[in-house]
Amino acid sequence: MSLLQFLLMILHSIFLEFCTCTDTILPSHPIKDSETIVSNNTNFKLGFFSPEGSKNRYVGILYNVTVQTSIWVANRDKPLNDSSGTVTIMEDGNLVVLDGQQEIVWSSNLTNSLVNSSAQLLDTWNLILKDNSNGRAIWQSFQHPSDSCLQGMRLDPVSNEDDKNLITSWNSPSDASTGSFSFGVDPLNIPQVFVWNDSNPYWRSGPWNGQIFIGIPNMDSLRNNGFHVVPEDNGSLYMTVSFANQSIPTYFVLNSKGCLMQKCWYDGYEDWRVNWTNLENECDVYAKCGAFGICNLLDSPICTCLEGFEPKNITEWSKGNWTSGCERKTQLQCERNNSLVKEGKEDGFLKLTSVKVPDFAERSYVEEANCESRCLSNCSCTAYSYYEGIGCMQWGASLIDIQKFSGSSGADLYVRVAYSDFGIAFHLSNLKKKNMDLVIALTVTIGSITVAIFTYWMAKREGCKKASALLQSLSRGKSSPVYSYQSSPQEKLHQVYIEELPVFEFEKLAKATENFHSMNKLGQGGFGPVYKGKLPDGPDIAVKRLSRSSGQGMAEFMNEVVVISKLQHRNLVRLLGCCVEGEETMLIYEYMPNKSLDALLFDPRNQDFVDWSKRMSIIEGIGRGLLYLHRDSRLRIIHRDLKASNILLDEELNPKISDFGIARIFEGNQDQGNTVRVVGTYGYMAPEYAMEGRFSEKSDVFSFGVLLLEIVSGRRNTSFYQDEHSLSLLWFAWQLWNEEKLLKLVDPKISKSCFQTEILRYIHVGLLCVQEVANDRPAISVVLSMLSNEIKDLPAPTQPAFTGRQASLDTEFPQQSRTRWSVNNVTITALEGR
Ligand SMILES: *[C@@H]1O[C@H](CO)[C@@H](O)[C@H](O)[C@H]1NC(C)=O
Ligand SMILES: *[C@@H]1O[C@H](CO)[C@@H](O)[C@H](O)[C@H]1NC(C)=O
Ligand SMILES: *[C@@H]1O[C@H](CO)[C@@H](O)[C@H](O)[C@H]1NC(C)=O
Ligand SMILES: *[C@@H]1O[C@H](CO)[C@@H](O)[C@H](O)[C@H]1NC(C)=O
Ligand SMILES: *[C@@H]1O[C@H](CO)[C@@H](O)[C@H](O)[C@H]1NC(C)=O
Ligand SMILES: *[C@@H]1O[C@H](CO)[C@@H](O)[C@H](O)[C@H]1NC(C)=O
Ligand SMILES: *[C@@H]1O[C@H](CO)[C@@H](O)[C@H](O)[C@H]1NC(C)=O
Ligand SMILES: *[C@@H]1O[C@H](CO)[C@@H](O)[C@H](O)[C@H]1NC(C)=O
Ligand SMILES: *[C@@H]1O[C@H](CO)[C@@H](O)[C@H](O)[C@H]1NC(C)=O
Ligand SMILES: *[C@@H]1O[C@H](CO)[C@@H](O)[C@H](O)[C@H]1NC(C)=O
Ligand SMILES: *[C@@H]1O[C@H](CO)[C@@H](O)[C@H](O)[C@H]1NC(C)=O
Ligand SMILES: *[C@@H]1O[C@H](CO)[C@@H](O)[C@H](O)[C@H]1NC(C)=O
Repeated sequence: MSLLQFLLMILHSIFLEFCTCTDTILPSHPIKDSETIVSNNTNFKLGFFSPEGSKNRYVGILYNVTVQTSIWVANRDKPLNDSSGTVTIMEDGNLVVLDGQQEIVWSSNLTNSLVNSSAQLLDTWNLILKDNSNGRAIWQSFQHPSDSCLQGMRLDPVSNEDDKNLITSWNSPSDASTGSFSFGVDPLNIPQVFVWNDSNPYWRSGPWNGQIFIGIPNMDSLRNNGFHVVPEDNGSLYMTVSFANQSIPTYFVLNSKGCLMQKCWYDGYEDWRVNWTNLENECDVYAKCGAFGICNLLDSPICTCLEGFEPKNITEWSKGNWTSGCERKTQLQCERNNSLVKEGKEDGFLKLTSVKVPDFAERSYVEEANCESRCLSNCSCTAYSYYEGIGCMQWGASLIDIQKFSGSSGADLYVRVAYSDFGIAFHLSNLKKKNMDLVIALTVTIGSITVAIFTYWMAKREGCKKASALLQSLSRGKSSPVYSYQSSPQEKLHQVYIEELPVFEFEKLAKATENFHSMNKLGQGGFGPVYKGKLPDGPDIAVKRLSRSSGQGMAEFMNEVVVISKLQHRNLVRLLGCCVEGEETMLIYEYMPNKSLDALLFDPRNQDFVDWSKRMSIIEGIGRGLLYLHRDSRLRIIHRDLKASNILLDEELNPKISDFGIARIFEGNQDQGNTVRVVGTYGYMAPEYAMEGRFSEKSDVFSFGVLLLEIVSGRRNTSFYQDEHSLSLLWFAWQLWNEEKLLKLVDPKISKSCFQTEILRYIHVGLLCVQEVANDRPAISVVLSMLSNEIKDLPAPTQPAFTGRQASLDTEFPQQSRTRWSVNNVTITALEGR
């Protein structure tokens, strides 16, 4: 053996010695507040820490990354108030945390007295206390989790009385004490994963089918990358977590608001990103719509009763308190004992597609073909569903926590209803054919500006100030309905003549939309619901149906007709025609298969689908559409309600601006308007408009800037709750700008280093658009030149507008949490806008 070899051997043994020391606590090697032990792979460390915003000292296991990330806390309910603590092994073998007075504040609490043990932090983040005589683990942190769940952790079902094996939230981001939310698996009937608020369900995964939880949308992509249920030979089961790519630090954490998140570390950003969360939206909250209610994010309001059911307490329901739920309109045939109705027709089943099936499913082992008859034969069976891997599911007394998914996630559910409620809400054959020579005289008291639009439009178009044309034959050429707008006394009566707009028959539209069936509902437009329709041998269409008896809706309807029928641009949605028959007033548009930008961008299931070049072309498309409105078209139009849900996408994801219900037309050199009626959407409204009712092209530019930042970041302006930072997107962006960390704003899904300069340029332009002072904001033509790099030197932005009013709307999360979760942020109207 050479000397060198000998020296190497010595070095090697010293190194090994060093290694075993750094990941282990021995009675002879306690750790003080300033010290840590580090797992052999250096991924994890154990030591004292203080959460952000707190001075308390906790002992915890932390991810060894640049952002402090604790995944387990020992003395969570008994923090230390100074740095005098130690972690050590007591004579009885217990692992303990001691304060400065050597009092035990936390202990592993093993009672069988051991004398010789040591604590080791393993590479898997598991902290084990082992018996030195045989190396067996006698206690492990895996079995006493805090708020986080990592690869390989095992959670047993909660049924055990004394089981502490649950993930429990912190009380607040700065307070690690046990909070009210917990997370675990409930093995009853069919295993489901729950988040509980104390002992009440707060979120539910839906049943486990052996591979996925069928109530988690697009769980397929979480397969082998998330939590799953593992059965054991003796019939019991447990839940475990695994992640597809082990080289990316990933974990689940239950935050203090009950939000379960999968967080992944992104090296490029030196920060965690939320890759999945259980609470995407309000509909994910357990039993949001009460018994027999169904939650659909695209509906407004989001809760409706199942067909055949009506609100139990209509007063509460209409106030938006849906927890009271719904009840049957008509008693089921099978429940009637009365011989008088013996001849009544059999009950039937209504099919709901792509839903999260209700809670309390009972499994029966019958074939699919017999599932329905089995349910029918039992009067207390209210619904059934059949799902691969689970089999026949049936429900008893009430149906709770049903959610309608967009897309094909979820299962088909068959709900039992009485014959008379069998979905034949309205029979076409009974519809009275009305004489179409009708004159609809509407007395609409609206602000003078809408009338000014008509005056202006008439003047422009007909070259005639005394406009008195007629709304032409809107049905079959012979009839002539007239809209007469009677305005304030000082205004004349104006009548509007619409030509060139094709007319659709009501019956055809009703057929095309299956009688405006709720399953065909695409969303809620400015003045009424929008349905998808299919014309026989024709294209798919979108039908906007004016809510009946709504004077304001009528004004917006007419406004939309006037504005949009004159416009033609590839980035504006195309109006195909209209329909005015009886009480029905409808507009027909080209159908946009990719729905709205809102759904595409903020629905995490879709996000991967939009890469940077696509997002770039969407931003540019919106900009070009806006330029056309502001400058290119014969009329100058201020949209006033530009937002993600008003941008529709065609099959190639080309953006089309829609919803001109509150747009305004300007005279040639007029460049600013005033209104007493502020209409728009908070978060997108420029401050001068929201506060003072002043609007101009620059207020549209502001909204465009918000949209741009949302598209680049993939985050909704008003949705910063996940980070537990009460910030709005604009404020966040402004902070990052000042810290020169703008890249942190970029959606990680589009982060490619080769695009970075371009992305940063876009953000810069976005910040210029949202500047507080309207005059500082560039015109949309300039914005487009800046984006395309024709204008190379961009001025530094001044502080964006996040006015007190906006900030409070954006940052407060009251119990009634609509705004932050609503995908469908409905246009709101504030009448007192000064
Ligand atoms: C620590 O890690 C090194 C290399 O990563 C490995 O060679 C060694 O065996 C590990 N030690 C222990 C005790 O696992
Ligand atoms: C964290 O990990 C890095 C390697 O990734 C290592 O160099 C460093 O020492 C670790 N930090 C601690 C506190 O262990
Ligand atoms: C810290 O806590 C101890 C009790 O655990 C208490 O006696 C002491 O006064 C506290 N010190 C401060 C500065 O609050
Ligand atoms: C240990 O036991 C004590 C007394 O029974 C109890 O107060 C404490 O909460 C236990 N600690 C843990 C970590 O279970
Ligand atoms: C504990 O066990 C280790 C390893 O087996 C041994 O080196 C040490 O002397 C023991 N300590 C006591 C106090 O028994
Ligand atoms: C959790 O439950 C408590 C009462 O048990 C309630 O006050 C609180 O609002 C609930 N939290 C949520 C987010 O529902
Ligand atoms: C089933 O077996 C596992 C180990 O295989 C054991 O941990 C569990 O306690 C057993 N459950 C029951 C109910 O016997
Ligand atoms: C895991 O992630 C790393 C880093 O992002 C990547 O380089 C690697 O290709 C990924 N592995 C797999 C199997 O996806
Ligand atoms: C994030 O989620 C998607 C599916 O939603 C998955 O494909 C991807 O692998 C996840 N990323 C990580 C790092 O787990
Ligand atoms: C509905 O709820 C309100 C308030 O909770 C109550 O006063 C009223 O009696 C209820 N009505 C019915 C029909 O239960
Ligand atoms: C909602 O309605 C239920 C039952 O009708 C009632 O008990 C509860 O107090 C209501 N909640 C609110 C916030 O009004
Ligand atoms: C029908 O009869 C059963 C018992 O025969 C009774 O419990 C139930 O209340 C009756 N239902 C009605 C609606 O009369």
